Amino acid sequence: MGVALERVPQHVGIIMDGNGRWAQRRGLPRLAGHRAGVENIRRVLRACVELGIKMLTIYAFSTENWRRPEDEVQGLLNIFAGVIGRELEDLHREGVQLRHIGRLEGISEGLKAQVLRAIELTRHNDRLILNIAFNYGGRAEIVDAVKAIIQAGYTADDVTEELISRYLYTAGCPDPDLIIRTSGELRTSNFLIWQAAYAEYYVTPVLWPDFNKEELIKALVDYNTRERRFGDIRPR
Ligand code: IPE
Ligand code: IPE
Ligand code: MG
Repeated sequence: MGVALERVPQHVGIIMDGNGRWAQRRGLPRLAGHRAGVENIRRVLRACVELGIKMLTIYAFSTENWRRPEDEVQGLLNIFAGVIGRELEDLHREGVQLRHIGRLEGISEGLKAQVLRAIELTRHNDRLILNIAFNYGGRAEIVDAVKAIIQAGYTADDVTEELISRYLYTAGCPDPDLIIRTSGELRTSNFLIWQAAYAEYYVTPVLWPDFNKEELIKALVDYNTRERRFGDIRPR
């Protein structure tokens, strides 16, 4: 599908929602939806590379998702561990740099080691930066930043938006230009709440396992109709 886009967002965030409903509609267990959802990341990642997006942040597991039934949480963690093992070498070859945003506490030693290895292996890649928001919560992120700022000895007078940004997990990343949420829910669910202050939101009813390049292009076409003003009265 050829498409001429005037502006391609530099940084896209995706709230990958709707795996459970996708499975339910097929009479399958929720974990089958999570498997399909995790498989789909690869497809969308490729599409992002093809379309020239330089940074992608995907919401994989929130600090609130621990509230789910134990077997769903365990199943999800196993799926993540499996996919890192299977895909890491390919992603590295394709020039993807993997990063993690979120808390590493609470995650098993095995999975933690896998995540750290993936970050280390891919750290010089620059075709696309993939931030994986895993055990991530926007409020937890701000709490962690405030603690680190105090521990570093800053005083009230030092505190600026720039300083806080530097202490977030996303330090050094440009703010997201576009946040896509699948499955139709109209809420942020604690995703990049600081960074997305001026992001454009795009919500589609398509469930995450069905989201593909064509749907991504629809989001980008829609993004191109937005007039971003950042508080000014003129577009920027
Ligand atoms: C998103 O799909 C994946 C995670 C939150 C881990 P859901 O599991 O939330 O799917 P729905 O919203 O129940 O359909
Ligand atoms: C947001 O989806 C978290 C992820 C996609 C990882 P949820 O399904 O957890 O969000 P709520 O509970 O519907 O707000
Ligand atoms: Mg959901």
